[in-house]
Amino acid sequence: GAENVSLLRGALLHFVNDPGECMESDMSANERAAIEYYPDALLVMHAGHVVAVGNYQALASDRTVTPTPCAELVCLSPPRKVSGLMMPGFIDTHVHFPQLDIIASYGHCLIDWLNTYTFPAEQRFVDSAYAAEVADVFLDELLRHGSTSAQVFATSHAGSADALFSAARTRGMRLHAGRVMMDRNAPASLLDKGPAALKDDERLIADWHGRDRLGYVLTPRFAPTSTPAQLKAAGELLKSQPDLHLQTHLAENLDELKWVAELFPDSRDYLAVYEEVGLSHERTTFAHGIHLDDAMRARIAERGASIAFCPTSNLFLGSGLFDRDSARRLGMNISIATDVGGGSSLCQLESLKAAYQVGQLHGAVAHDADGLAARANQPLTPWQGFYQLTLGNARAMRLEDSIGNLRPGMEADVIVLEPTATPLLARRTRWGQADQVALEEILFALMMLGDDRAIREVHVAGRCRKYSGILMAEHET
Ligand code: GUN
Ligand code: ZN
Repeated sequence: GAENVSLLRGALLHFVNDPGECMESDMSANERAAIEYYPDALLVMHAGHVVAVGNYQALASDRTVTPTPCAELVCLSPPRKVSGLMMPGFIDTHVHFPQLDIIASYGHCLIDWLNTYTFPAEQRFVDSAYAAEVADVFLDELLRHGSTSAQVFATSHAGSADALFSAARTRGMRLHAGRVMMDRNAPASLLDKGPAALKDDERLIADWHGRDRLGYVLTPRFAPTSTPAQLKAAGELLKSQPDLHLQTHLAENLDELKWVAELFPDSRDYLAVYEEVGLSHERTTFAHGIHLDDAMRARIAERGASIAFCPTSNLFLGSGLFDRDSARRLGMNISIATDVGGGSSLCQLESLKAAYQVGQLHGAVAHDADGLAARANQPLTPWQGFYQLTLGNARAMRLEDSIGNLRPGMEADVIVLEPTATPLLARRTRWGQADQVALEEILFALMMLGDDRAIREVHVAGRCRKYSGILMAEHET
């Protein structure tokens, strides 16, 4: 029937495959085929899913689509026109909700930053009312910035994960999260009971995993804060329930590498600490992975695990420059994430900007016959950037059957980007004018100049959550 159907008409961009590392003029035919762009699209959503997407004129006369032909739907309730560019909602594959209130805290590297700001902040989450308040603010901020899905660290308190799942469920979001496991090298009030604390995870799995759009993620913080016994127990739980995800940190900072070598003298390297207990598998997200060699990259690729590249965090904490080129060369799955509060923004457009800048600094420079420097590698292109925030991040998390693009059957998480959001963006893109610039320039301008003002609308499972740039409360939708 036509009830609860939502129709949007306007420009729409999504990816059906990886568009590679080139600008459009240098793309292969396959890479170009990865991009689907409709200057005038019709998007039909019903019961939280995409029913149809395509060229407006073609779809508006189509009588073959089920359950109700688009032509009929368009007659019954004409689509609402959006002025910006529709895209799948962004996915943030690595972010800490308990660190929201210490975002932008000055002047420390990883381990000092954890001790000075992070651990004290996380201790407040023993209070479930505080956890619930922060969970609401956090998810509203994610949505305001166009991130409709995320993979999130809570704190070691089970109640912090309950608060987050509950708030995500209210908003209808696809959210994957877990309670942090840590049983050493942190303040006593944050430590859990090691292997025995997995009872908490089992209870959380029973309550939340697979409920609506929620998923549980086993979350050992990182090797230094877990005993070998806790890591082993996590590996056993993962083996017994292979549809669980796993998230942790890996090779972010040089002092951390030294510390891990001291704590695990029998392991051949940092990655091996996780591999030995079965924690590197195809639903594993390792945050950072900056200080790896090619052999380690190849091992990650072979297991099908992924690395979350968190460029604003890597710059903010001075951790290092992630080597995307080597990661891609060795076939590693990568995603792009904010890592707030190590990251300095929840805005994934900011992540793309920082990723581009990291690429500029990292790119190997070759010299031609005249001795002129030329880049050996391209910094992040807008195509790869927006692919990464959507389908690429979904693939890294093995969620590409649910989210990441707007093909029929996919969950209807849609955002509308506004290329005229600021006077400068409007001038740079000339969006909607006869002399509008090329789409790849519009996308690049959005990633370099855009912020939450450029996220005009946000739809979660077909329901509008942000409209005209303003977040809508549950009772308004
Ligand atoms: N390594 C261990 N814990 C953390 C954390 O909370 N943030 C970051 N960026 N790295 C970590
Ligand atoms: Zn992190």
